[in-house]
Amino acid sequence: MKKFYITTPIYYVNSYPHIGHSYTTLACDIVSRYKKSRGVPVHFLTGTDEHGINIEKAAQAAGVSPKEWADKVAAAYKDLWKNLNIEYDDFIRTTDRRHEGTVQAVFEILLAKGDIYLGHYSGMYCNSCETYMDETEAPGFVCPIHKKPLNEVKEETYFFKLSKYQDALLKFYENNPDFLSPSFRGTEISNFVKSGLKDLSVTRTKVAWGIPVLSNPAHTVYVWFDALINYVSAAGLGAKICKDKAFFEMENKKAGVKNFEDVWPADVHLIGKEIYRFHAVIWPAMLMALGVPLPKKVFAHGWWTVEGEKMSKTLGNIVDPKKVADEYGLDPLRFFLFREVPFGADGDFSMDAFIRRYNADLANDLGNLLSRTLNMAAKYGDLPAGDYKCELLEKAYKLDKEIERHMDALALDKALEAVWSLIGNMNRYIDDKKPWALAKTDEAAAKTVITDLIYTLRRVTDWVTPFMPATGAEMKKRLSPGPVQKYAPLFPRLEIKK
Ligand code: ME8
Ligand code: MG
Repeated sequence: MKKFYITTPIYYVNSYPHIGHSYTTLACDIVSRYKKSRGVPVHFLTGTDEHGINIEKAAQAAGVSPKEWADKVAAAYKDLWKNLNIEYDDFIRTTDRRHEGTVQAVFEILLAKGDIYLGHYSGMYCNSCETYMDETEAPGFVCPIHKKPLNEVKEETYFFKLSKYQDALLKFYENNPDFLSPSFRGTEISNFVKSGLKDLSVTRTKVAWGIPVLSNPAHTVYVWFDALINYVSAAGLGAKICKDKAFFEMENKKAGVKNFEDVWPADVHLIGKEIYRFHAVIWPAMLMALGVPLPKKVFAHGWWTVEGEKMSKTLGNIVDPKKVADEYGLDPLRFFLFREVPFGADGDFSMDAFIRRYNADLANDLGNLLSRTLNMAAKYGDLPAGDYKCELLEKAYKLDKEIERHMDALALDKALEAVWSLIGNMNRYIDDKKPWALAKTDEAAAKTVITDLIYTLRRVTDWVTPFMPATGAEMKKRLSPGPVQKYAPLFPRLEIKK
């Protein structure tokens, strides 16, 4: 059976992970956990992008070899994902032999086909973006992202015939309206493609730290051409196109991939908006050239700032998600990131906003609902088991469909909003019915109200779990049939520090 294949970008190892990288990987984890909870087999891939001049420089500055440096940072990524309770299925590194071999084979296939050809390039290059830019993209030849002047570069290079795929791309976007997501980003991409695509330089002669071209090792493969291929090298394409079939089959087995077709095409490439063109234009063109099916969706989320500023080393405002999680709890952080900002839009991370959400949505709405329900239930003996029907629960079942729609559309914020609107209704239900007063005149009616709440809270638990796995497990435990225990609050209130 074809698995649901979801990917993060592979992150550069020139510096250590922060809240921005965590955001994408957490989103994939949430979607993956949600799908798995619905019985859908999932393949969730993340990894690291380890070649190129920036990594070479970072290693040099640290006085170690690029590979040693990459090992260290890749380990830090794996460590952080563990700390954030992220359960990926595979972690690819572009220095893995399974990846390098696949890139080399892809290159030779496209070369033989004429979709890659040798030529010369001169242009203005941003070292930090690892990309050439013209004056429309970089006014005054200053990189709009890094605010650094571009460098003039002239070199012999292989080109990928991107221009050849202009019409095919436009047709593909038209026939697959979900491919460019969220849809508001589609217009910009279509216009960019319509304005005319130029062939893309895909090798470097001046960058030693890269994958050598098999038939001309004076060239190494351009880091973006190398990186994009990770999505298929991890999915097992190597076993189909590389000579050393046995090696690639063994690697696939280790990665939990039986056949390329069980994983590929990807269902979602989840990325940040700044790398959308690479994924929405270059990547599909590369796949078309290869004759491999295209991913179903490329989804770009927005960009996080911190207290209104872009995160940067110079400003010293880089948020370490581990620190936040250690101080306030991991699940509140996982919740905040996806409740606070519509998924797809930009957002600002501030401690004030975090604490406000924590107190309002977690301590008050969810935490109180659980504790007041359990406190009332304690008066009526064991928590019930078995099937149950009630109006509140019927509504929750309907909500389940709505949440599924939101999750499928990656509207993670809307899914949470829907759950929290039910939580709000449940709190109001308690306030209206006043089971403690009702019990004085009609004990059975009071008990029914509480039973309704218990069963509905069990549904809420299922929806909360992908976002907050530990909280979900704790709720499940507290709500399971049997005697009610005394529990500490799920989310103790936080005070705003001055
Ligand atoms: O671009 N807000 O790697 P990278 C939101 N290696 N998301 C953020 C973020 C922020 N402030 N900062 C980082 C690369 N991200 C390439 C990708 S893929 C074939 C190659 C997230 O280390 C977001 O997902 O610069 C963004 O796209 C990614 O990290 C960039 O990571
Ligand atoms: Mg970047």
